[in-house]
Amino acid sequence: MINVAIIIGSTRPGRNGEAVARWIHDLAARRDDARFELVDLKDFGLPHLDEALPPAMGHRDLPHTRKWAGKVASFDAYVFVTPEYNHSISGALKNAIDFLYGEWHNKAAGFVGYGSVGGTRAVEHLRLIMGELKVACVGSQVALFLGSDFENFSTFKPAAHRVHAATEMLDEVVAWGGAMKGLREGATPART
Ligand SMILES: Cc1cc2nc3c(=O)[nH]c(=O)nc-3n(C[C@H](O)[C@H](O)[C@H](O)COP(=O)(O)O)c2cc1C
Repeated sequence: MINVAIIIGSTRPGRNGEAVARWIHDLAARRDDARFELVDLKDFGLPHLDEALPPAMGHRDLPHTRKWAGKVASFDAYVFVTPEYNHSISGALKNAIDFLYGEWHNKAAGFVGYGSVGGTRAVEHLRLIMGELKVACVGSQVALFLGSDFENFSTFKPAAHRVHAATEMLDEVVAWGGAMKGLREGATPART
């Protein structure tokens, strides 16, 4: 069985991201085909990238880097719950991604975006970033609209049909996460 992280991509006080991530986690926890864990960037207290050497060189010298690297490496797949800030992801999420390199490789990812148009532009950026990190991004995604899936743009009340979108996305993440695990374990020739 694979391990899937549900990553909260916002660290802002009063963030909407936590309620969205808990909703996805509650849906995921009813499944018996994977293990799901909420991963909150706030718990890692990452500063702006402060490692002397580029992450691609493989050094993980600082304690906060090691803690984050160990957590990310322990998963087979990720569900990114991302806000849209100025048509992209948050600086906090980009920084957390940039801290690491091989830990992301040959894994799978799905996306839950939220914003005035469902966080779709942020997710498009995140798909490009994941491509550079050799992550297989599933096609289905969840797009939550501030004007209709939240009351007063702040109280999360998702439309009923969002559950269907979330289930499709989770189905694909579990399937592709398993396939990528096979690739990492050598079932399929992989180059890293
Ligand atoms: C710095 C900043 C920039 C934003 N830019 C956008 C944007 O470009 N497009 C959009 O749809 N929403 C934008 N928003 C609205 C956010 O998507 C919305 O506030 C969301 O709840 C932020 O996620 P969070 O509450 O989890 O931090 C922006 C919000 C912030 C704080």
